[in-house]
Amino acid sequence: MTAPPFLRLGVNIDHVATIRNARGGAFPDPIRAAQLAVQAGADGITAHLREDRRHISDGDIARLRAEIAKPLNLEMAATEEMVAIALKHKPHACCLVPERREERTTEGGLDVAGGRAHLEPIVRRLVGAGIRVSLFVEPDSGQLAAAKAIGAPVVELHTGAYCEAQGAAQAAQLARIEAAAAQAARLGLECHAGHGLAYESVGPVAAIPTLVELNIGHFLVGEAIFVGFEVAIRRMRQRMDEARRR
Ligand code: PXP
Repeated sequence: MTAPPFLRLGVNIDHVATIRNARGGAFPDPIRAAQLAVQAGADGITAHLREDRRHISDGDIARLRAEIAKPLNLEMAATEEMVAIALKHKPHACCLVPERREERTTEGGLDVAGGRAHLEPIVRRLVGAGIRVSLFVEPDSGQLAAAKAIGAPVVELHTGAYCEAQGAAQAAQLARIEAAAAQAARLGLECHAGHGLAYESVGPVAAIPTLVELNIGHFLVGEAIFVGFEVAIRRMRQRMDEARRR
């Protein structure tokens, strides 16, 4: 059996910006957090520029591009405004996510199958600019097939329902993620996962051999309050590596 590919860790720094914005000043600086994340072993930095700019700002994206050498994964809604920003900054990657103003966080995945007419030209423009495009989807076979059909090279599976469930319900959600990751591999899609992952929930997801990247943020920023950002990231990395070895 061939060894699974290395599992990358993308550290999402949105909620460092949330804390900064609570007071409207410059501290804590999310770009300093990104530097620390890189020192702690992050393989990339993920940031979500929301339409309402509730955490990450346009200036943060410019600074991340200028000051951080590791790949930037820009999470964004599939809107004309965001496409223009992505084409201007040319991040390594864009992850298209559904966005509703009233939501607290990204609830559910994109409806790729239903939104094909809107999404397909956006994916084409971003891919044409050399940006690695991923679509944030529920672990659902119809959505994966639609992602493949519109030319997205990558999907990111939403792990929120798995992280929130318990017991048998959690095992069922994990099985959905495993099946979707296997389907992605069969379709030739690079497969990522993320949302809500914490120390207790990361292992079974990290163990899925066809996953190549996890994006994790909120838990790490919260844990940083107690142990520091670098330690929190190193502990997460360790759990991912242990699960991968098993
Ligand atoms: N992946 C995607 C596509 C997301 O939208 C988010 C949240 O911004 C994450 C991963 C990270 O989720 P969390 O902050 O809950 O770890």
